[in-house]
Amino acid sequence: MENNKYSPVDATPVKSFFVEMLTRDIELSDAILDLLDNCVDGILRQRKNSSGEKPYDGFNAKIMFDENSFSISDNCGGIPWDLHNYAFRMGKDPENRDNDLPTVGVYGIGMKRAIFKIGRQCLISTRNQEDCYEVEITPEWIAEPDNWDLPVYESSQPDKEAGTTIVIDKLNEGIATYFGDEKENFTRELTNKVRTHYAFILDKGFEVEINGKQVGAKPTKLVFNEKIKPYTYQTEMDGVKVFLSVGFTRPIPSQKEINDEQEEKRYSSMDAGWTIICNDRAVLYCDRSELTGWGEASVPRYHTQFIAIAGIVEFQCNDAAKLPTTTTKRGIDASSPLYLQVKNKMREGMKLFTDYTNHWKDDADEAKRQIALGNPYTLDKIKKEVKIETLKMNPVKSGLKGAQFKPKLPRPKPKEPTTKQIAYRKDLDDIQTVQRYLFGDQEVSPSKVGEECFDQMLKEAQQ
Ligand SMILES: Nc1ncnc2c1ncn2[C@@H]1O[C@H](COP(=O)(O)OP(=O)(O)OP(=O)(O)O)[C@@H](O)[C@H]1O
Ligand SMILES: [Mg+2]
Repeated sequence: MENNKYSPVDATPVKSFFVEMLTRDIELSDAILDLLDNCVDGILRQRKNSSGEKPYDGFNAKIMFDENSFSISDNCGGIPWDLHNYAFRMGKDPENRDNDLPTVGVYGIGMKRAIFKIGRQCLISTRNQEDCYEVEITPEWIAEPDNWDLPVYESSQPDKEAGTTIVIDKLNEGIATYFGDEKENFTRELTNKVRTHYAFILDKGFEVEINGKQVGAKPTKLVFNEKIKPYTYQTEMDGVKVFLSVGFTRPIPSQKEINDEQEEKRYSSMDAGWTIICNDRAVLYCDRSELTGWGEASVPRYHTQFIAIAGIVEFQCNDAAKLPTTTTKRGIDASSPLYLQVKNKMREGMKLFTDYTNHWKDDADEAKRQIALGNPYTLDKIKKEVKIETLKMNPVKSGLKGAQFKPKLPRPKPKEPTTKQIAYRKDLDDIQTVQRYLFGDQEVSPSKVGEECFDQMLKEAQQ
């Protein structure tokens, strides 16, 4: 190596990679969800080990935008100064993870990626306990390739409650259109994404406002009554807790409803399919593809007739890197060994309800009566039933271990036969006499003669 004519090469990252490149792979609305994810992580830091029904109560985030600027303001505890060494860097060391918390953040890139996606000028003001500071990103800093230091100032509004406000100006060209001319459409898209991906978090008390309007929660609920209960499974693998429930969200559709749906007269199909939640955040919402087991093994492909079937799988882990989600956290990592094993259970459960739908399709009215009893349950309520053992779980001995409740869903009774055979013997002469009486000279078989006798008597009887 002594005579090596080569000198080491420079492998430092290039700033424009983060600013121009990384931001291309993420949609604007998803980048904004990243900012909301950070609020949730902020709450988790505030409320370590908090349980109870509404752990996010009292926390909120307000998003505002127009053609000139974007802002998000929260009261979720602020960015601890302890984190300053990594919070503003691109990417993070595994050492810097909040190891004892089920956070959403993993990679140390979400906030920065969202900022660069939106604009060139940004002020992050935050208050956490005694610390109250502001970090500024300017177009000049972005343009300077070798300067990675960001200035920090003591905050100018020190008496605010603990939380963070991010204001982004000098919007990127395309972004100004989304926030300006396309504001109405984009607001609708973003609201929908928050409503669905944050359904469980909103249901647990977190409040999100977009341009002054509060986003309502829309959690999946499953029918739970004497006759129909959801298939439920739970396990823990390598520190990841898994809870799965699949069942009906509504009565199975009649043929007319299927036709209406196919002609898009209604949009109820939107609630069908699988929702996958990682640390409270839905990473997949109402999926009806092979990714969640539809059309695989013995499960049929999704079709409108299965409009009533929905499932939820929840993965929870203090080390967010173990969750089976993609880097953008808007999808499932389909090759994750944990997910593949859980998917077998998803299929097993789903099959019970596709079978039920098929068995009852000719008697949708009776099935409707069975399903309509009582109120549907949220996932939390189902968990409670498991805890108090009204939903009795049994150990699973093969495949992925764990415990499950496999409902015995009603089957239609086999139909009573509607016909019966009549047979009798008569004297040949007598048969011929009756044949002549009924058919004249026409040649017919004795059984035809018997049938005609019956038909004539029936006619008489029915008069
Ligand atoms: N509004 C906020 N409230 C509290 N903490 C925040 C807020 N915004 C950012 N942070 C914290 O700053 C750090 C950096 O956030 P960033 O989103 O860039 O990375 P991350 O959340 O660690 O990982 P990921 O890339 O997976 O989102 C994180 O620890 C995050 O929790
Ligand atoms: Mg984050």
